Amino acid sequence: MTDTTAVDVDALLAEIFLTPEGKSDPYPRYAAIRERAPVFRSGLGFVVVARYDDCQLVLRDPRFGKGEGGPIWETYGLTEAEWRARFPDLEAQSRSMLGLDPPDHTRLRRLVAKAFTPRTVENLRPKIVRLTDELLDEMHGAVDVISALALPLPMAVIGEMLGIPASERAALQPHVRAAAQMLEFDPSLELVDAASSANDVIVEHLEVLIAERRAEPTDDLLSELIHVEEQGDQLSHTELIATVMLLFGAGFETTTNLIGNGLLALLDHPDELRRLRDDRSLMKTAIEELLRWDSPVQIDGRMVFEDVDLHGESVAAGEQFVTLLGAANRDPRMFDEPDRFDVGRVGPAPMSFGAGIHFCLGAALARAEGHVVFDRLLDRFSIIEPAWGDTRPVYRDTIVLHGLESLPVRVG
Ligand code: HEM
Repeated sequence: MTDTTAVDVDALLAEIFLTPEGKSDPYPRYAAIRERAPVFRSGLGFVVVARYDDCQLVLRDPRFGKGEGGPIWETYGLTEAEWRARFPDLEAQSRSMLGLDPPDHTRLRRLVAKAFTPRTVENLRPKIVRLTDELLDEMHGAVDVISALALPLPMAVIGEMLGIPASERAALQPHVRAAAQMLEFDPSLELVDAASSANDVIVEHLEVLIAERRAEPTDDLLSELIHVEEQGDQLSHTELIATVMLLFGAGFETTTNLIGNGLLALLDHPDELRRLRDDRSLMKTAIEELLRWDSPVQIDGRMVFEDVDLHGESVAAGEQFVTLLGAANRDPRMFDEPDRFDVGRVGPAPMSFGAGIHFCLGAALARAEGHVVFDRLLDRFSIIEPAWGDTRPVYRDTIVLHGLESLPVRVG
C-alpha cells in the first residue's frame, strides 16, 4: 500500500527530473520512492511504479499498451488543424512500431526483426571492431569520450546497416538528436517545434536516399525495406520512413549513454576497472552491470486499458503509468546489495532495455557495441583516467534519456 505521508514523491521526482544533483545521482531518491510508495499517483497526472516486478508487470501484461495516446494537440492547447498545420511531418514518427499496439506493432517489428537477431549481430562484429578502431586511432591525450567515440560509433554502425552514407551521417547527427527530443517526457512546445524542423530535414534526406535505392538497390537494410514496401500490403510509405527514422534514432543516443555512463562508472570504481582489465572474460557480466548501474534510458511507460488494482491502489482504464527503470535496476528484491558496483555480478537482467513486446529490438546490437568498445579501449590504452579536474561531468538536460554532456578523460 502506498505510504504517501512518509515521502513526498512528487518533490523527489522533481529533483530527479529537473535538478543537476538529482540527475547525477537519482538513486537514493529512487530508493525512497521504491521502498515507501511502490505505486504513486503523481500530481502531474500519471501513476508511478518503481519496483522491478511492478515495472515488469506494466511492460508485459496485455492489459497495458501504448494506446491512442489521446489527442496530443490538446496537451498544448492547440486544435487538431493547428497541430497538423504546424507539425505536418510528426505523423511519420508516431507510425513507428515504438508507438503502436498489436497488430500493427507485430507486423512492423517482424519486418525488421531478423536484421537484429544475436546471430546477425555476431556477423557484424568485425565491422563494429573496424569502426571502433577508426575512432580510437584519433584519440590521443586528453579527449572528450562522448564526442570522440560515444556519439559517432552507434551512428556509424546503424548507418552502415541501413546504408546511410558516412557523409550524410555527420550532417544528420544534430537533427537526429533534436528529433529524439520527442521521446522525452512531456516535451515543451519549443522542443516539439525544434524536433519537427529536425524531422523535416531528416525526412528530406531519406526521401532522396530512398529514390536512389529504389532505382539501384544494394544489399543494405534500406533497400530491403523498400522492396517490402513495393510488395504493396506490408509496409506503407509513411511506415517505411517511420521505421528508418526509428532505427536510425533509437540506437544512437541510447548506446552513446551506455558508453558514456559506463565509462564514468568504471572510472569511479578503479578497482573494478582494473579487475576487468585483468580478466576480460568478465566483459559480458560487466556490460550488464554498466546497463544496470546507470541506465541509458531511465523511464518507460504504458497506458492501462482496463481498471486495475496494484498494491491496493485502484487505477482506472485510460490512465498513464510511468515505470522508473533506474529504480527497478536497484531493487534489493532482485539484486543483492544493489548499490554495490560489481563487474562480475550474476543475476537477473537489468530492465534497461524495457520488457515485453516492445523489448529493445537493438539490445543484442547495443550489447555487442558495448562489448567491443570497452574491450578495444582496454586493449589500446594502458592508461584511462579522469581529466575533468574539480568539475564532475554533468548530465544532459533530458529526463527519459540519461547521459553525459561530455566526459573528459586522458588516455595513453
Ligand atoms: C544501450 C542501448 C539501448 C538502450 C538502453 C535501449 C533501450 C530501449 C528501451 C527501454 C526500449 C523499450 C521502449 C518501450 O518499451 O516503449 C527500446 C526499444 C527499441 N529499441 Fe532500443 N535501446 C538501446 C539501443 C538500441 C539500438 C542499438 C537499436 C537499433 C538500432 C535500438 C532499437 C530499438 C527499437 C527499434 C525499439 C522499439 C521496439 C518496439 O517497439 O518493439 N535500440 N530500446
